[in-house]
Amino acid sequence: MCGIVGYIGRRSSVPILLEGLRRLEYRGYDSAGVCILTDAGLQVRKKVGRIDAGLARECAAAPLSGSPGIGHTRWATHGPPCDANSHPHLDRSGRIAVVHNGVIENYLKLKEQMVAAGHTFASETDTEVLAHLIGVHYERALARATNGDSHPLTAAVMSALREVIGTYGIAVVSSDHPGIMVGARRGSPLLLGVGQHEHFLASDASAIVAHTQQAVYLNDYDVITVTEDDFKLASLGNGTAQAQIQQIEYSADAAEKGDFPHYMLKEIFEQPRTIENALRGRIDREELSAKFGGLNMSLAELRAVDRVVIVACGTSWHAGLIGEYLLEEFAHVPTEVEYASEFRYRNTPLDKHTLVLAITQSGETADTLAGLRESRRRGHKVLALCNVVGSTIARECDGGIYLHAGPEIGVASTKAFTAQVSALVLLALLMGRIRMLSAQRGAQIIRALEALPAQVESILARNDEIRRIALKYAAAEDFFFLGRQYNFPTALEGALKLKEISYVHAEGYPAAEMKHGPIAMIDERTPSVFLVPRDALYDKTLANVAEIKARKGPVIAICTEGDTEIRSRVEDVFEIPATLEPLVPLLAVVPLQLMAYHIAVARGCDVDKPRNLAKSVTVE
Ligand code: AGP
Ligand code: GLU
Repeated sequence: MCGIVGYIGRRSSVPILLEGLRRLEYRGYDSAGVCILTDAGLQVRKKVGRIDAGLARECAAAPLSGSPGIGHTRWATHGPPCDANSHPHLDRSGRIAVVHNGVIENYLKLKEQMVAAGHTFASETDTEVLAHLIGVHYERALARATNGDSHPLTAAVMSALREVIGTYGIAVVSSDHPGIMVGARRGSPLLLGVGQHEHFLASDASAIVAHTQQAVYLNDYDVITVTEDDFKLASLGNGTAQAQIQQIEYSADAAEKGDFPHYMLKEIFEQPRTIENALRGRIDREELSAKFGGLNMSLAELRAVDRVVIVACGTSWHAGLIGEYLLEEFAHVPTEVEYASEFRYRNTPLDKHTLVLAITQSGETADTLAGLRESRRRGHKVLALCNVVGSTIARECDGGIYLHAGPEIGVASTKAFTAQVSALVLLALLMGRIRMLSAQRGAQIIRALEALPAQVESILARNDEIRRIALKYAAAEDFFFLGRQYNFPTALEGALKLKEISYVHAEGYPAAEMKHGPIAMIDERTPSVFLVPRDALYDKTLANVAEIKARKGPVIAICTEGDTEIRSRVEDVFEIPATLEPLVPLLAVVPLQLMAYHIAVARGCDVDKPRNLAKSVTVE
């Protein structure tokens, strides 16, 4: 993971880099650092911990001024979080500084060779090995004096990267070359921000959008040499690199916390709008179906699909599971949901009429991207459901659906999930309507979808009610989340939310599966959150509730408005409005998100930046 940012221009780099890093902190927050080219040469400040508590103080205590400058916020892969392992890293001569997002897989071998040649290393990172390697190639490039038309620093970066196996988004500066900054990418995102007499490099647009709306999104194997007024793109691959300046579609305001104490809470409260935005312009009232602008598939091609394979990770994988239920119910298309990390190394048969669907908020998840590439390598079309415009997956898929959820900053995904499920309902509706789904059922689904924003609003208005319940159970160390059918993936998502932000052990299960083993864990200290809407399996789920109650397990029921029957059987109840069964997850997930949030706050956890996590996982 990690976030990188670079600046070259007439302003002083430090404030720009610090602000950019704060925006990128969601990508990793083990440590942060900057390297600035000052009158006294390259100066590094780096510190373990959060930016404001560490790096920003270091920079205030001993101010630096100059350009170019590069910055990094780290999510450690090689070497624990500590000052020494923080980026930037220098080459042996101290003349070249590197920030890196990714993993150099062959770093040990390279390191051994360099140690044998007399190099000493100050950190345990793979990145420092890359910095030294660039230094070695730089000396060779200087010795050769000329290297075609490329700059010696660029030539050194290119030759070093040819020796590297792994993934990288990097920014490089050198005290020998005050006027340039070099960037490159393979597998980790990098974009160039184009300003007036200044340029930026960044992992994503949020870091630079306050300064420019113009960007060049780099492709894998691109190497870019940037000066104040110009940039030049080269390719490490066979092809030639094409620079296309694009408008950044990102509003800086959308990434502000506003009056909310945490991004996660703000994003939970945005969900009525999230659903509206995911539906906007996509409902086809004449056909009682859905329509999308960017699928790049004709209805005939969609009609020919006889199997769907969904590839995703984490919360997006949970949304995918709901997608499986939806596609099978609405369209009778057999659907499988694969963990992207498994799929990429498994030889899953994909026949001619299988549609691969990648689901991702960030569009940068390494495993999902690898799944997409593997499918495309086999000649398959891949559609993507993606939130971040211009992200790698959005650019590499054959077609897709943007979620339009706006920036999601909280590491725990909330609004992206509701956007994904809303888009999946629409996709299943379309796939259903070109097969066997009746017009009447189509109309019913559309009506229910359109009622959702107000229904979610009504749940959010009762935030205090869910907070009271959450506080009652905040000290519990184990939780179960249980539901059947459409509510099973929601149960998994509720458990994941609680685990990731409050570090409380939680498991999601199909309610009826409990009796096959996990019920052994139930006692009076282990609460179960049951999703029990008034649906076709209501009575069966009630029987599962009774099984837990018989073992003295406290039960919190998420049930349908006006359900009096359940009240007398469980400890606590939170009602949600009635909707169609397939749409229940879009309502039921909201109290689960709020519950996880309130428990995490009560336990003093860092809600937006939970330990050990980062927002987008761009490493395997
Ligand atoms: C969700 O709360 C997680 N932090 C995580 O599971 C996330 O959903 C997963 O890493 C996938 O990310 P993506 O949607 O950006 O691909
Ligand atoms: N591998 C580098 C490190 O551990 C970068 C990590 C990353 O990009 O997540 O410092």
